[in-house]
Amino acid sequence: MAHVKEITVKELNTEVFIREKAKEISELVGGDAAINALSGGVDSSTVTMLGHKALGDRLKTYFIDNGIMREGESRKVVALFKKLGVHVEIIDTQKKFFNALKGITDPEEKREAVTQTFYKDVFGKLVRDSKAKYLLQGTILTDVDETVAGIKRQHNVFEQLGIDPQKAFGYKIIEPLLQLRKDGVRKVAEALGLPESLYNRIPFPGPALAARVIGEVTRKKIGIVRTATSIVEEGLASTGAFQYMAILHEDRVTGMRDGKRDFGLQIEIRCWDSIDARKATPTKISHDTLCKLADRIVKEVPGVVSVTYNIASKPPSTMEVV
Ligand code: XMP
Repeated sequence: MAHVKEITVKELNTEVFIREKAKEISELVGGDAAINALSGGVDSSTVTMLGHKALGDRLKTYFIDNGIMREGESRKVVALFKKLGVHVEIIDTQKKFFNALKGITDPEEKREAVTQTFYKDVFGKLVRDSKAKYLLQGTILTDVDETVAGIKRQHNVFEQLGIDPQKAFGYKIIEPLLQLRKDGVRKVAEALGLPESLYNRIPFPGPALAARVIGEVTRKKIGIVRTATSIVEEGLASTGAFQYMAILHEDRVTGMRDGKRDFGLQIEIRCWDSIDARKATPTKISHDTLCKLADRIVKEVPGVVSVTYNIASKPPSTMEVV
């Protein structure tokens, strides 16, 4: 594996970083065109701004509507970037992702299905159609560490696993944020003029809500975890925690509704305190806040009869369940 030299948040000079990375991108791409996928997370938003600074209109930015994103995400992301002068095109790929995920229960196979659909199928076609030679993406050092250590196959790591994207998918990948961790990316995002709601946005994983459904991913289960996610994100925003999420369990549990037995679903809430996602501890949330969340979840998410709060740290836990 080629050694990646970390730039810690202490060492980071955002102005110099932005200038150097923009120069690197424009030198690499030369007179060609490039594409990037914007998910609305901190990393891909930062790459979008950096890429447009370097390439202007030669960078085409897409929002891949894969059907496993959070509520209203495509609309919000397109509107926000319009304000920043960046045109984002939405690509509907929902069927492709749900087909690829069909019948898969193993966590690593699920991650691999998402990766292959993104890089081979969706980006492969976009690159061919747009005649671009490069894909710009927001891989950060923590993604590489965890993949190389064999903890999780992060959706966006190739070279460090000995995979040549040119051979595997037909295009080259540029990763301007590779030397940074989340705290550094947030500083660069702020320096690039992204709004606070974005540079301080909680992280969201590449495999999206598929990383939060235990067992097979279906449209129905994604709908359930999406609604629970909205409730948890709204209810825990004021904690200022590093990340918070809802997980849909596979097991059903006995409950009761309207005086009758209801064999229903379980949602697990997770809320993490962390600096850079390498280690994390569950946030000490008041019992009152948790009860309010549970009340809303059982009322507003169809079929849920049980709500739990995770109290195990990372390690040995990981932040996402898949
Ligand atoms: P874990 O679950 O590995 O998560 O403790 C650590 C941090 O990484 C995010 N995460 C991902 N980010 N691609 C990403 O870009 C991925 O495949 C991926 N998986 C997990 C997770 O949300 C947490 O912030």
